[in-house]
Amino acid sequence: SDFLRIGVAGLGTVGAGTVRLLQDNAALIRARTGRRLQVVAVSARDRRRDRGLDLSGIAWHDDPVALAANPDVDVICELIGGADGPALDLTLAALEGGKPVVTANKAMLALHGERLAGLAERRGAALCFEAAVAGGIPVIKALREGLAANRIERVYGILNGTSNYILSTMQETGREFADVLSEAQALGYAEADPSFDVDGIDAAHKLALLAALAYGVAPRFDQIHIEGIRHVSALDIALADELGYRIKLLGTVRYTEAGLEQRLHPAMVRKDAPIAEVDGVFNAVVIEGDRVGSVMLQGRGAGAGPTASAVTADLIDIARGIRFPVFGVPASDLLTVTSAPLSTH
Ligand code: HSE
Repeated sequence: SDFLRIGVAGLGTVGAGTVRLLQDNAALIRARTGRRLQVVAVSARDRRRDRGLDLSGIAWHDDPVALAANPDVDVICELIGGADGPALDLTLAALEGGKPVVTANKAMLALHGERLAGLAERRGAALCFEAAVAGGIPVIKALREGLAANRIERVYGILNGTSNYILSTMQETGREFADVLSEAQALGYAEADPSFDVDGIDAAHKLALLAALAYGVAPRFDQIHIEGIRHVSALDIALADELGYRIKLLGTVRYTEAGLEQRLHPAMVRKDAPIAEVDGVFNAVVIEGDRVGSVMLQGRGAGAGPTASAVTADLIDIARGIRFPVFGVPASDLLTVTSAPLSTH
């Protein structure tokens, strides 16, 4: 029909940003899709909180899972967060009922991606997650569509804005890690638990999804070698600088004969490499394809506007009737991957 009726679960930064984007850009989205993308139901913890949104005429559910059962809702936007709990319950209920789900939830997909993809494909429902990796940067679409003809040789990137901000500020000012961390938290990009940022967990969730997309396999978060930035000192950064390098928290994935190699750790990057110049809260992803060569995408990896941009792009795909296999190949054909020994370079 003319309408795509959306149910939004979670009205935090990303949820509220998505509702606002859909309202502000309604006319251009309608022109581009030929349909009206309308939020008809929402669910969030605190009904009375003022989010600066006009929610009149929109149904309210106290229980997010009830969104999945609401017959007026065509597509679910899961923006609650958290790997388990209500986010997972809602996603399972929606897919079980054949309703498409758009989510920004990297933790949930990194840990339960295989199960969710299998369910989505059995039920013929889309499961979209552009916003789960590098926020507003359309890296999922780049891998799945623009670079679909390439054998992917390697993907690597800066996948956490908070830790990149901390490393960049340490570089700029010579200050120590602990000193800069509190400042990063005040900026509002950090996860509720900042250890997810600085210990590499958040970036590793995203890396697991990039790996799955690049190689058509299920996410294997448990097989990632993870090391965060807590132990990077001002002295490490100064010494690297003298040698001509920057220290970046990089996630890297490639497929070797031994299997999928996924690693997330502080790495020395030559100062003249484009990714070395990506500073502050920005993210960047480099994709190396056998035909295209090296492609770098950079932009904002978090925040209301950029994340809502990615969520809404997925909603637009659904409005247009486009559905991709969740991780590149049907989940029933997923390869069994083993972790590769880490190479030493
Ligand atoms: N805390 C994350 C970051 C936000 O700093 O990049 C998006 O995952």
